[in-house]
Amino acid sequence: MKNIVLYKSKYGHTFQYASWIAEELNWEIRDFSKFKKTEIKDYDTIIFGSGVYMGKMNKVKKVLEWFKDKPIIIFACAGNNNVEKDIADIKNNNFNEDQLAFHTFFYLPGGIDFSKVRGIIKIFLNIFIKNVERKKNKTEDEEGIIESYYHPTNYVDKKHIEALVAYAKKL
Ligand SMILES: Cc1cc2nc3c(=O)[nH]c(=O)nc-3n(C[C@H](O)[C@H](O)[C@H](O)COP(=O)(O)O)c2cc1C
Repeated sequence: MKNIVLYKSKYGHTFQYASWIAEELNWEIRDFSKFKKTEIKDYDTIIFGSGVYMGKMNKVKKVLEWFKDKPIIIFACAGNNNVEKDIADIKNNNFNEDQLAFHTFFYLPGGIDFSKVRGIIKIFLNIFIKNVERKKNKTEDEEGIIESYYHPTNYVDKKHIEALVAYAKKL
């Protein structure tokens, strides 16, 4: 049996989870960018995880296209610490009902450190934050964004992989 954990990670949170998962399951691990579509047939079980940016999971479009006939385990890693509404938003923004029923989805809490953001995204981010700060009646989400802009968070913890690993072991 050949199994693999694939990941796409910008700041290392998803990579940390992918590494822990691969270690616990004793599976191969690889950056999704180095995985070829033609290799899908070589694997029995596949896990894919990526970070969430502006509501969208990194590379999810390609993953859903590549794995439209093969169910896989998908985990999203984002800035919130298991907030139900945010997890529901991530599901709604990235999958339709059929895709959610076909694949198995997990959420693993990452973290946010905007000081690590560089380049053009940093410029847009600063403009966005200034605009939000200027607003008189901010929503709860907007207050949260400002809070995380000034106070980095990190919820990455090995305990969060337990449910996913237990599920994968039963397959
Ligand atoms: C520019 C930027 C945009 C982000 N957008 C979102 C978002 O829309 N929703 C969310 O929950 N987290 C968001 N995050 C938080 C990331 O999903 C979080 O840092 C995640 O742990 C990143 O995983 P990675 O380091 O493996 O790529 C954002 C982070 C950055 C830097």
